[in-house]
Amino acid sequence: MIFDTHCHIYDDKYEEGIDKVVETCLMNGISLMMIPGDNINNSKKAIDIASRFEEVYCAIGIHPEEVDSIDLEEGIKQLKELYLTSNKIKAIGEIGLDRYWVKDEKTINKQKEFFIAQIELANELHLPIIVHDREAHGLTLEILKKHTPKYGGVLHCFSGSLEYMNEILKMGFYIGLDGPVTWKKAEAPKLVARNIPLEKLLVETDSPYLTPHPYRGKINYPYYVKYVIDEIAKIRENNSREIEEATYENGKRLFGIR
Ligand code: NI
Repeated sequence: MIFDTHCHIYDDKYEEGIDKVVETCLMNGISLMMIPGDNINNSKKAIDIASRFEEVYCAIGIHPEEVDSIDLEEGIKQLKELYLTSNKIKAIGEIGLDRYWVKDEKTINKQKEFFIAQIELANELHLPIIVHDREAHGLTLEILKKHTPKYGGVLHCFSGSLEYMNEILKMGFYIGLDGPVTWKKAEAPKLVARNIPLEKLLVETDSPYLTPHPYRGKINYPYYVKYVIDEIAKIRENNSREIEEATYENGKRLFGIR
């Protein structure tokens, strides 16, 4: 049983169409998928896919790179309205901070406002959060400590040190690992894979991006998550089945899926 807890399969890169992508995933060993939204429009697409496939769940949210796409108040209002339209929405995400693409302080401040407001929304709706943190570890931790998510969450595509991992785990959060753990020179995620308590680990693809070895450079698919699982198993000297089952149960627990 495999659960890809983070894939953007509404992306235009999938020329074959969403239905074909989902069907291929189900034929290739994927049991559950979580599709996060990154703006209002894509959150709607995520809801639509989840409503059509039993195995697909979704999250809604405004990504830090999308904070200029909508006014904050209007964004929160629309997310609240969207939430009422589906019982397959299991988290607010993906939300957070991105200092890789964004350098100016004005936009970083806007990212902070969106992040905090969406944590509060998640608390109000009794939902966990899916956090995007790229080159903003210190600030992410500061906000999470000050505005505690009451229903937990995952730090998706984790790229930090063991020390940062421990801080995140102390908050009761899960850690998501993706394709980079399979890349030869990516030492940080390999170190995390070796040391993380298994009950706190999620596997994800972030499809269509971050494609694992041996397909790196090509478009990513949720069923390639098996390469992430195999690499983690190899690093930890577990068998793949153990990783598969633990991460499947962890994902269901975090997102409240029965
Ligand atoms: Ni993502």
